[in-house]
Amino acid sequence: MIKLEDIEKTYDTGSVTTPVLKGVSFHIEAGEYVAIMGASGTGKSTLMNILGCLDKPSAGHYRLDGTDMVNLDDDSLSRLRNRKIGFVFQQFHLLERATALKNVTLPLIYAEAYPGDAEQRAKGALGAVGLTHRMEYRSNELSGGEQQRVAIARALITDPTVILADEPTGNLDRKSGLEVLAIFKRLYRQGRTIIMVTHDLTVAEHADRIILLKDGTVAEDRVVPQPRDAEEELRTLSEEEETS
Ligand SMILES: Nc1ncnc2c1ncn2[C@@H]1O[C@H](COP(=O)(O)OP(=O)(O)OP(=O)(O)O)[C@@H](O)[C@H]1O
Ligand SMILES: [Mg+2]
Repeated sequence: MIKLEDIEKTYDTGSVTTPVLKGVSFHIEAGEYVAIMGASGTGKSTLMNILGCLDKPSAGHYRLDGTDMVNLDDDSLSRLRNRKIGFVFQQFHLLERATALKNVTLPLIYAEAYPGDAEQRAKGALGAVGLTHRMEYRSNELSGGEQQRVAIARALITDPTVILADEPTGNLDRKSGLEVLAIFKRLYRQGRTIIMVTHDLTVAEHADRIILLKDGTVAEDRVVPQPRDAEEELRTLSEEEETS
């Protein structure tokens, strides 16, 4: 479903040109759960921006469900992006003063796709991430873990086939991070494609495949034989808390 061939990206700021991606190729099938790893500055976010059609590569081919995303005009691109892709970021990117419910409803209002039952759908999405009791809270009244779950609900509301997450657990403590990973695992089991950037191997091992970027190319692409189970780790964590 995702086909990258020889993707290159060079940033040009006028005085300096920075080659970041120097020929990245891989395929991701529908329903895969892939972690992308690599040192800081290797171009993970740059690659995510290209996968999410927020930015175009300098060279190479990118096909999403058979559509050539590099030569698409901006309107068609943003339409496809709104329909197929959900984003989750390290910094949540919620509207601080808006309630959880409002934050989750917004993408539907922008997409003008589901005018009537937008609020009902948003309530369902918040329920799915365990936040029914926080719907009327403003983002700045929520914990980091809760904010990230609101952001996931927001990413899910348009029913995307691909979820792109850039360091989704980077700002969270272990328990909140595992809660996020448990939600991703559930989404994966429902058949969604998940692509997650992380610098943490113990986080990456929740996926079933790890792609390692190095010096602007794919240095390693391997299957995780026994992916970690976040639900189980959460149970162990709460047992440890009870005994300590
Ligand atoms: N808009 C931009 N203009 C110029 N250079 C940029 C731009 N965005 C990123 N870069 C450069 O591209 C390189 C890769 O950045 P990128 O954000 O993709 O790295 P990353 O792997 O996500 O790092 P981190 O783990 O720290 O998030 C960096 O050297 C960065 O300075
Ligand atoms: Mg980054």
